[in-house]
Amino acid sequence: MKDAVKRQASTPSSEQVGAFWDAQARSVGAGGDLSQLGTVTRDRTAVAHRDRLERAHLEKLLELHKGSRVLDLGGGAGRISLWLAPRVAEVTLVDLSRELLSIAEQKAAELGIGNLKTACASLLDFKGGAEYDAILIMGVCTHLSEGEVADVSTLCSRLLAPGGKLYLKEPVTTDHAARVDERSDVGVPYRVTFRPREQYPELFAAHFRCTYQRATCAHFFPWFLGGTDGAVAATSGGLVSRAVDVVSPALVKIDPLLQQLEDRVRERPLLAPVLAPVPVLQDFYVFEQSGGKRMTEITSLPASRPAELSVVVIAYNEQECIANVLSELRASLDDGDIAHELVLVDDGSKDSTLQHMRAFASKDRRTKVVPLTPNRGIGGALRAGFDAATGEHITWIPADGQIGPEVVLELFSRRRNAPMTTTVYSKRNDPWYRHVISSTLNNMIKLQTGQVAKSGGTYIFERAAWQRAAPRDDDTMMISTAFRHNLREAGEQIDEIEIEARARVAGHSKVLNPKTIARTVSGLLKLKR
Ligand SMILES: C[S@@+](CC[C@H](N)C(=O)[O-])C[C@H]1O[C@@H](n2cnc3c(N)ncnc32)[C@H](O)[C@@H]1O
Repeated sequence: MKDAVKRQASTPSSEQVGAFWDAQARSVGAGGDLSQLGTVTRDRTAVAHRDRLERAHLEKLLELHKGSRVLDLGGGAGRISLWLAPRVAEVTLVDLSRELLSIAEQKAAELGIGNLKTACASLLDFKGGAEYDAILIMGVCTHLSEGEVADVSTLCSRLLAPGGKLYLKEPVTTDHAARVDERSDVGVPYRVTFRPREQYPELFAAHFRCTYQRATCAHFFPWFLGGTDGAVAATSGGLVSRAVDVVSPALVKIDPLLQQLEDRVRERPLLAPVLAPVPVLQDFYVFEQSGGKRMTEITSLPASRPAELSVVVIAYNEQECIANVLSELRASLDDGDIAHELVLVDDGSKDSTLQHMRAFASKDRRTKVVPLTPNRGIGGALRAGFDAATGEHITWIPADGQIGPEVVLELFSRRRNAPMTTTVYSKRNDPWYRHVISSTLNNMIKLQTGQVAKSGGTYIFERAAWQRAAPRDDDTMMISTAFRHNLREAGEQIDEIEIEARARVAGHSKVLNPKTIARTVSGLLKLKR
């Protein structure tokens, strides 16, 4: 590699880059190892070790779950995309090389992976069809000019969901000078730029702040093997290669420790000379959005029209329902010309509910997102929503769609009649077990408090009523009963109306959950006559 690394030259066109990686795909072959297809380094042991190190880094840094959408820009034959696909909702792989993408598609079919989307395009032209929770760019910016990297920063800021992160890995230099790696191993010219390691945070600075930067591995071997190239040469083939293969997984595990040790040695003027300088290494970066889409969960209402009504929407694993329920609710409130805010409480969902909420909030500033981790149950979610609400009146609905917007409008129209108006169901399209649960609960409430507890549904109340009568030590499902109880005790009027509940839009009920039941019974026992 040493001979190939030269001073900086101009950047090849997209066509030339695509042609090089197509030729690379043909030379390694479709049966080749995926990690070998994404690099020009020919040493199998070094490449496999680097692949393990990078996955360990990603494993530690990526914040993904089953509902996440991932975008792998310049992802080649899918080394990382195919690895992540089984853990997330969808991976989109964009690359210039048709041949590498064909290999990725073929491997996806062999592995039964159905959630990999591919796009043969320059990442600079990629329009995107969604917002992504994570964008990966690994070994691609070396192909781009500085102006193009700045364009990639703008593109990523547009494509990332609020709170989403950008993960970058590039070969970089440690001596503040850019270098060019040039070769023509597969008969097609190849030229990439290794930039100074401090340059990427600057190139992405318009939209991102760098929250993590670390070399992909510690560099002890180059000291006695004569630099990185010497290390690669020494591990190529034979016994050493096999030995490195064996110890590689263990080395990857202790690499964070080794890196700390390396840092200590390099910091000390007396010790530093024992380690050779490593002019080119690979750096891993994590970028967070520095603008409005950062972790700003709460967007505020335009000051010109204060909210007359806050609708708290509570959700736990409601990815199938949430988007429709929110759009339907917002449309009805707008049709009714009600100045409102939506307070969306995600109760630690394990699916993509929170992502749906954030996407909804990013399009309309009259929305607050309140993410709770860990899950607190219905009572905790209601409390968090009521506390975050700023409207004159507050009501709530679950995100399953069982309480339609017409109920919210009906309650709103009665808001001035009493400090609180509750609802009882005239008919509820619930399965039998839900009827058993609610009638058991109501009987227990009657026993415990002496009150007839028919209300199982939503209610509207003055925010001031919440401020004076909120039950302060109850975060269970009983929070609503306790709130009503406090108001009654204070001699305040509570009205009641009948409503019809609809069938849930999709998904299934989360009530039959042992944790929820235990929390509810304990809350109930705290209620006094
Ligand atoms: C070093 S390989 C890395 C592949 C993959 N990211 C990995 O880590 O295994 C670089 C990849 O970037 C792709 N690439 C380079 N410039 C690109 C561009 N402008 N748009 C899309 N892909 C590009 C190449 O086709 C190639 O697959």
